[in-house]
Parts: sequence; structure tokens; C-alpha cells
Amino acid sequence: MAGRLEGRVCVVTGAGQGMGRASAREMAREGGKVVIADINEQAGQEAADLIVAEGGTATFIKVDLRSSVSIRNLMDTTAALYGGIDVLHANAAVHETDLTPNTSIEELSEDVWDVVNDINLKAVWLCTKHAVPYLKTSDAASIVNVASTGATVAYPMAAAYCATKGGVEMLTKASATDLAKFGIRVNCYCPAAIRTPMLEKYLQASDDPAGLEKVLRGAHLLPRLGEPEEVAKLAVFLACSDSSFITGASYLIDGGALAWRGLNAG
Ligand SMILES: NC(=O)c1ccc[n+]([C@@H]2O[C@H](COP(=O)([O-])OP(=O)(O)OC[C@H]3O[C@@H](n4cnc5c(N)ncnc54)[C@H](O)[C@@H]3O)[C@@H](O)[C@H]2O)c1
Repeated sequence: MAGRLEGRVCVVTGAGQGMGRASAREMAREGGKVVIADINEQAGQEAADLIVAEGGTATFIKVDLRSSVSIRNLMDTTAALYGGIDVLHANAAVHETDLTPNTSIEELSEDVWDVVNDINLKAVWLCTKHAVPYLKTSDAASIVNVASTGATVAYPMAAAYCATKGGVEMLTKASATDLAKFGIRVNCYCPAAIRTPMLEKYLQASDDPAGLEKVLRGAHLLPRLGEPEEVAKLAVFLACSDSSFITGASYLIDGGALAWRGLNAG
């Protein structure tokens, strides 16, 4: 049986590890030709090798999402290699706890604010801009952005991150509005706490990582962390034609976190 992304060219940013890697693997299992786009050469090549070892099609292309030249090169190289682009999964992001111990809003430096904004928000626009000339020629074009529950509710040590994720949610709607005329659908999803290296760094930045993890688990109605593989199923759904009448939408994948006030948290 043909996969749901059979022969489709899928660019996944930040696919070296975490949710991006899981989504790239799931897209390849569904028959997609996957480009692992990441700044981390070792992790990116490892992810591509893993997919190929599983019988899928994948190539690693190095990208620095802070550079518009590098992003344009990613899209041009992908199209030259595979003949076009059908899916852009703009997954990569950084969190201020990846970058600095000074995460409180009054301590945050302009440099950290700029890095978080460049990678999490500006690069989503630049990836869209430089993928669109290729997506226009696809008969099943889909852009899947990644926001966060932090787009809707704030949490500590994350002012720049939450602000950019609110921006990604609105950029998704604006992109869907401008690109519908080309048949390009644009959606995003909003995870709560998912077990990835980013989450691990967030936990380690606190005074009590085990206690914070317990609070995060308890904030989910389903009282555990989410797994990257669970998110990957949603990424595939939004990337493929199963979601053909869905655009400009934002999906929660949060274990019920935003459905209640989390009174049992902790
Ligand atoms: N993990 C969570 O709990 C959680 C919750 C909500 C939303 N998210 C979002 O999900 C997405 C994936 O998160 P994750 O937890 O898997 O992250 P992660 O930190 O584990 O992986 C991020 C990847 O992005 C790459 N990257 C970072 N800067 C880059 C740059 N300048 N150029 C190219 N690549 C770069 C990294 O090398 C890494 O491979 C992100 O958009 C994140 O904001 C994560």
C-alpha cells in the first residue's frame, strides 16, 4: 500500500533531534523523500542515516536558520536534488534556556532575544518565502509550522520563546491567507511538554529539575510527558492530503493542558 506522502518531497527543519527527527522518520515511513535540515551536522547526518537504514529516503542538508542565504540555499538544493518541494515542516526553534542562565525577563539580553526571534519566528517566514516558488508547482503543497502552548499561556523562563510562538501562530494564519490562492495550505500545532533535548535543557535550567518535571506532568490532564512519536503523527496528518480542507488552523497536542486550570499541578 502506498504511504500517505508517497514520493512527496518534505523539508523538515531542526530534524537532527527531538520532534523534528521523529516527524522526519514518520514522513519517510509514509513514503516521503525527506530533507533533514539542521545546523548540527553530526545529529543531522545521523538522522538521515537512520532513515536510510530503515529503508526510507533522506538527505541531510546543513542550514543556519539565522541566515536568509543559507535558507534559500536549502530550498534551492532540495529542489535541485528531488525536483521540487511539496511539504515544508518548519519545526526548528531554540529556547532561551538553551542559550543563557539569565532567562528572567529583566535579565534577558538583547542578543538572546534576537537569536530566539531570528530562529523561531523570522526563519519560519524566510523558510516559507523561499519554499513558496517550489510549493506553488506542487499539487499537494502543505506547510506545517510548530508553535507551542506557550503561544497562548505564558510560563516561567520563557518570555522570548512564548512571544515568538504567539507570532508563529499568527504567521500561520497570515501565510494561509496569502497562499490559499496557490493551493498551499498552512497550519501549525502547539505541543505542551514533550520529551526532547529542548525540554531536558529547560528542566536542567531550574533549581529543581525533578520537581519541575513533576509539575509539567501534572499540568497535563493525561499526567505524563508527550513523546515525539505522538507529535509526528499529527505532523504527517497536516502534511498529507488527509487534511486537505484544513488551512490556517492551529492544533493543540498538549495532553489536555489548556483545557483546565491545572489545579493538581505539583
Ligand atoms: N519539547 C517541548 O516540550 C516543546 C513544547 C512545545 C513546542 N516545542 C517546539 O517543537 C519544536 C521542536 O522542539 P524540540 O523540543 O524537538 O527541540 P530540540 O532543541 O530538541 O531540537 C531543535 C533542533 O533545531 C536545530 N536548530 C537550532 N538552531 C538552529 C539553526 N540556527 N539552524 C538550523 N537548525 C537549528 C537544533 O540543532 C536541533 O536539532 C520547536 O519548534 C519547539 O519550540 C517543543
